[in-house]
Amino acid sequence: MATMQQCSFPSLSIACLRICSLSLILLHLQCASVASTVTHAKQVYIAYLGHTGSLEPTTIGAQHHEMLVAATGSKEIAEAALIYNYKHSFRGFAARLSEDEVSYISRMPGVLSVFPSKSRTLQTTRSWRFLGIDKDTSTDSSSSQSSNDNLWLRAKFSEDVIIGLLDTGIWPESESFQDDSLPPIPRHWKGSCETGVEFNASLCNRKLIGARMYLKGYEHTYGPLNVTATGEFLSARDKDGHGTHTSSTAAGKFVPNANTFGFGNGTAKGGAPRARIAMYKTCWPIPGADPIAEDSCLDVDMLAALDDGIRDGVDLFSISIGHLNPQLTYFQDALALGGFHAILKGIPVFCAAGNDGPTPATASNLAPWLVTVAASTIDRSFPSPAILGNGTVLKGESISPDKLANRFYPLIFAGNAGRDNKDASQCLPNSLDPAKVKGKVVFCVRGLGTRVGKSMEVLNAGGIAYILGNAPANGTEVAVDAYALPGTAINAADAAIAQEYIKLSGNPQVKILPGTTALGIKPAPVIPSFSSRGPNSLNPQILKPDISAPGVNILAAWTGGNSPTHFPDDHRRVAYNIISGTSMACPHAAGVGALLRSIYPTWSPAAIKSAIMTTAKVFNNLNQPIATASEDQAGPFDYGAGEINPIAAADPGLIYDAKPRDYLLFLCKAGLGSSQIQAISGLNFSCGPKPPKISNLNYPSVAITKLKKTQIVKRTVTNVGPMGTYSVSVQAPPGVHVDITPKSLHFGAQGERRKFKIKLTVSQSSKGKYVFGSFTWSDGAHVVRSPIAVQSI
Ligand SMILES: *[C@@H]1O[C@H](CO)[C@@H](O)[C@H](O)[C@H]1NC(C)=O
Ligand SMILES: *[C@@H]1O[C@H](CO)[C@@H](O)[C@H](O)[C@H]1NC(C)=O
Ligand SMILES: *[C@@H]1O[C@H](CO)[C@@H](O)[C@H](O)[C@H]1NC(C)=O
Ligand SMILES: *[C@@H]1O[C@H](CO)[C@@H](O)[C@H](O)[C@H]1NC(C)=O
Ligand SMILES: *[C@@H]1O[C@H](CO)[C@@H](O)[C@H](O)[C@H]1NC(C)=O
Ligand SMILES: *[C@@H]1O[C@H](CO)[C@@H](O)[C@H](O)[C@H]1NC(C)=O
Repeated sequence: MATMQQCSFPSLSIACLRICSLSLILLHLQCASVASTVTHAKQVYIAYLGHTGSLEPTTIGAQHHEMLVAATGSKEIAEAALIYNYKHSFRGFAARLSEDEVSYISRMPGVLSVFPSKSRTLQTTRSWRFLGIDKDTSTDSSSSQSSNDNLWLRAKFSEDVIIGLLDTGIWPESESFQDDSLPPIPRHWKGSCETGVEFNASLCNRKLIGARMYLKGYEHTYGPLNVTATGEFLSARDKDGHGTHTSSTAAGKFVPNANTFGFGNGTAKGGAPRARIAMYKTCWPIPGADPIAEDSCLDVDMLAALDDGIRDGVDLFSISIGHLNPQLTYFQDALALGGFHAILKGIPVFCAAGNDGPTPATASNLAPWLVTVAASTIDRSFPSPAILGNGTVLKGESISPDKLANRFYPLIFAGNAGRDNKDASQCLPNSLDPAKVKGKVVFCVRGLGTRVGKSMEVLNAGGIAYILGNAPANGTEVAVDAYALPGTAINAADAAIAQEYIKLSGNPQVKILPGTTALGIKPAPVIPSFSSRGPNSLNPQILKPDISAPGVNILAAWTGGNSPTHFPDDHRRVAYNIISGTSMACPHAAGVGALLRSIYPTWSPAAIKSAIMTTAKVFNNLNQPIATASEDQAGPFDYGAGEINPIAAADPGLIYDAKPRDYLLFLCKAGLGSSQIQAISGLNFSCGPKPPKISNLNYPSVAITKLKKTQIVKRTVTNVGPMGTYSVSVQAPPGVHVDITPKSLHFGAQGERRKFKIKLTVSQSSKGKYVFGSFTWSDGAHVVRSPIAVQSI
């Protein structure tokens, strides 16, 4: 969706040049796709003018107005064209413009970039919306309750931290957002609870302290939102459910006995259970789209939300939104751009890596100042075995509330049950022949279409139950759904057995046992195939994703305005729902970030990110290396530094810090000039004659591309723990020699910094493939680990 739109947006060559001048990498992509599509219609553009400096918002607004009048030639046209003024936290405006107007504006002094507004998507695949319930949504399912409680106590449950979310809105009545016993709203809060349809300030409390909506960009792009067709609320109230889910994962209070249809049962918890929530509703349904399609989140609206959120006093952002490839460079990407201004103000920004894996280089939100979160499984499943007629038991998982009787039923492969003998193995709409499936259990293959959609096809064609078999590429990753008929989902190996059995048996039969909740599942975590992968497609010298966190079958609060499956005919309502995606992983990591923010209020966003990354786990609960759903060993392109480890993150020992200036030096190498960087940052800054290489940005991981012989990488660590001596150990990537000097670092006091060098030498070329390793500093008590990815040629 987003990719297609990208090609349909026109842009003049001059605007294009300006855009491209910000990044050489993008030049080809952007100019190529734009040059071939010339239209004369006005489109929504964003003009970016950098830092606000000392200008008052009203002055900035007036300047933008003058620019628009000059470009459009009329006060009236200018007023009609303007969509937003960004004037609190950075300068820019959004407007509907013709190509000529874009060309004119992009040549005006002070204009840094003019770019078309793109649509982005939430990182939950709607096909994975399903019912169920979680025993424990705490950030670390394997750590003991008491140590979790300790961390929470240390952080005072983050009651002083305000988490801002850009999402589909929030369901304020949810138990997860009640404010029992919370102290007054932090004094630095300047935001508000906007009145709208079924929403007003009285619905906010000491937990939900801010609620705003951003629809103008959407309506200028798609036309007026059809409230009748979508059931949407013209307010921050959440129709979709996604925003309610992510908010409660980050900061929901403890809610005991949370369960759905009796499945699972336990205490729902946010990562920072007493943090405050500010919802910025920026995502809305696309007109005419399937009701289970993802909402669209437009750049113009998200920039307005970030402009407000930074000003409002948000302490940390959690943004479960991403973009399909190609990834846009930093100053034509709302999240990178707005996120940059957040970082300048010391506000960490956590983003979803995306759901476009396992294809390499699919990760989104690649800017080095963002925390990019991949997804992982937790140690819980919903076993619902399928027993074949010959006695073989297929594991299966289900949270379907409907159950089959405990006996065998005839089983048919959907590939043999198509209308007009066509292949219906995917169970796409209207593909199954009712005469063939009536009264039978239907086996469908995963791949095209949605999982719940396939179950609807089986139901509509008269099947009595549904088995969803993974395609080989899906491996062991089983996602459960609230089918409207009995059914279970099986992994790729079991799916192959089922197909073989159906083929060989003259009279295939199956029995499906009802789903239950099982905890302590091993191995966990596993990196699911959907989670987007590295390498970084913009600047491969920055390793992405950064971290993984729970994002498969996650239970959290749900809207009262929608069913758990999003099917319009589904009239069920649930207070808690289980869904999957890097959207669910992001608020887990953000919750931990909020705890660190409380414990260490003066830490920079980079320090918080470093603490989370260097303490991450790379072993699962069988004490084996974390694997992917295809049962390969996972690596940094799957999980970044590894699986988030909240308790260790609160005591990292050393951190790799970075100040805004470090990111500015990075931008020099990423293609910006000193004057542009000054305008963006508002800082007196020069790239100097020789800005450092990108790989020398003080990042907690190391990625080296196109290594021929030898490269030296520099890093600086800051002591945030007790006095002590750290020594380094190296796990060198195959075919690479890694030499770190010095090999030991002594720290006398907190805050002391030490530099070291990492010399990488190719001993055997990997012929363009990436190979992985790590280095670890330890003083015996703290383990400070950094992944290394090297591509040698
Ligand atoms: C605010 O909204 C609630 C719930 O919709 C409603 O009961 C209440 O009367 C409203 N209050 C005001 C002041 O409009
Ligand atoms: C809005 O949707 C309703 C129901 O689908 C439809 O009848 C109506 O024509 C739509 N309105 C507009 C303005 O498109
Ligand atoms: C959930 O667990 C609680 C406490 O163990 C119990 O009282 C409650 O009945 C359970 N609810 C369901 C639906 O199983
Ligand atoms: C499952 O496998 C199919 C077929 O290869 C693929 O199209 C689909 O994207 C996979 N889904 C996931 C979530 O990995
Ligand atoms: C049932 O059939 C499948 C497919 O041929 C086979 O893999 C499996 O071993 C059989 N089970 C038993 C118990 O014979
Ligand atoms: C900017 O920095 C340079 C070098 O540090 C200095 O010479 C110059 O005076 C500064 N300019 C301003 C406006 O502060």
